[in-house]
Amino acid sequence: MTSRNPSGADADFLPRDAGSILKLAARSMFDLFSNMSEGMMLVDRAGRVVWINDSYKRFLPALGFRGAEEFVGRPVEDVVPNTLMRHVIETGKPILIDLLTNKAGTFVVSRIPLRDDAGEVIGALGMVLFDHPETTLQPLIAKFARLQRDLDEAKRELAAQRRTKYTFASFIGSSPAALEVKRQARRAALTGSNVLLLGETGTGKELLAHAIHAGSARADKPFISVNLAAVPETLLEAEFFGVAPGAYTGADKRGRDGKFKLADGGTLFLDEVGDMPLPLQAKLLRALQEQEVEPLGSNQVIKVDVRVLAATSRDLKALVAEGRFREDLFYRLNVLPVRLPALRERLADVEALAEHLLENIAARTGMPQRELAPSAIGALAAHPWPGNIRELRNVLEQAAMLTDNPRLAAEDFARVLPALAGVRAPAGGGALRPLPEQIAELERSSIRLALAATGGNKVSAARMLGISRATLYQKMSGIST
Ligand SMILES: Nc1ncnc2c1ncn2[C@@H]1O[C@H](COP(=O)(O)OP(=O)(O)OP(=O)(O)O)[C@@H](O)[C@H]1O
Ligand SMILES: [Mg+2]
Repeated sequence: MTSRNPSGADADFLPRDAGSILKLAARSMFDLFSNMSEGMMLVDRAGRVVWINDSYKRFLPALGFRGAEEFVGRPVEDVVPNTLMRHVIETGKPILIDLLTNKAGTFVVSRIPLRDDAGEVIGALGMVLFDHPETTLQPLIAKFARLQRDLDEAKRELAAQRRTKYTFASFIGSSPAALEVKRQARRAALTGSNVLLLGETGTGKELLAHAIHAGSARADKPFISVNLAAVPETLLEAEFFGVAPGAYTGADKRGRDGKFKLADGGTLFLDEVGDMPLPLQAKLLRALQEQEVEPLGSNQVIKVDVRVLAATSRDLKALVAEGRFREDLFYRLNVLPVRLPALRERLADVEALAEHLLENIAARTGMPQRELAPSAIGALAAHPWPGNIRELRNVLEQAAMLTDNPRLAAEDFARVLPALAGVRAPAGGGALRPLPEQIAELERSSIRLALAATGGNKVSAARMLGISRATLYQKMSGIST
């Protein structure tokens, strides 16, 4: 029964009551930490530095301060970049060991909250345990640095994948029509408004959408696109708004983010927007107006911040008139319309475009890059290009496949541009003739056709051709009917 300490040599014995043990442990730990410590700092409940010890002072120059009087009294994150002292005060939880990196170097630090008798957090104590971790803690630091490097790299890759593929520089063309559309698109990039890209198929609407995003304040955020013509109608709603976990059994049990959520902070590109089913149009309009979405099977709304770029090759106004596109949605999307010119409206760009596309084709196929003979450029400029730049690309690719000529000439395009055969001079003389000659030939054959169709009635034929009778007579003077 000797639980009581024998008198005399008390100080040599360990205490046996909890309170004393705690006190002893606390004092020992504090002594240990402060002996190990290369510097200590005290922060009050408001996160303000209230005290530093003498050894801490040698970090001040590296942090950009001449003396303690410039340092003490300031909010801790203003004077120690990347510190988590405020986090410790707010959570009341210590961070016993951590690596802190800032402009003064990398340090092993420890942060503990300080509490008053009632248990309230009244401040925090920060200690620098090692200030030369690269020597003392070499293995740990090396691992940390490696992980950090891997993480940075993964983040960079992810960002690069989400970054747009194209910028305004990728939109080739210096014709007045191309410059004008680029000017409009640049202006659209600077505003946050919704943009509607209009134009025939293959004119570069998608390319320009990427460029507008890349030139906007949202460039660092995701660019997410949905092709409304490509996604089955039944899946579109889930695609847009996502699915709450557990809404379905099976593959989607875990839930899925919708495109709106994925595009949060960035840009949502609605391609072929004219093909959107009416019920979805109503939901889309609401999402755009409220900037919030409700995933399928959930009863919670998610706030989003999304800028919409939409594109269509269809006549949206006509679809509105037919009741197949909501007028209110049309006006919401049509804030800034940008019309892309057809290739035949900017034939001056054919050469530059063709060269760019040939370079592209060579890079992708690994074949040598082809040049274009002047006759080829003439042949290409004579084609009407209903499929625009996409068609030009296909034609160049096919022509390149069909011959090994390093220099593609008009003949190399004859087979892939069948329409050209019709305008070719009947009696040899090359694939191309002066434009007035070709126009005259087209006029002659059209007039012949119109007269045949009307049984020689010149009044009806003129009406059919949209010209006056006088003009018809004048033009007919050169034709033997
Ligand atoms: N101005 C341009 N400069 C260079 N390449 C272009 C240009 N415009 C379009 N292209 C290329 O032409 C092809 C078709 O362009 P894009 O897909 O952007 O057309 P689109 O207008 O979206 O067509 P669709 O309506 O059929 O979807 C792409 O390969 C694109 O890179
Ligand atoms: Mg497209």
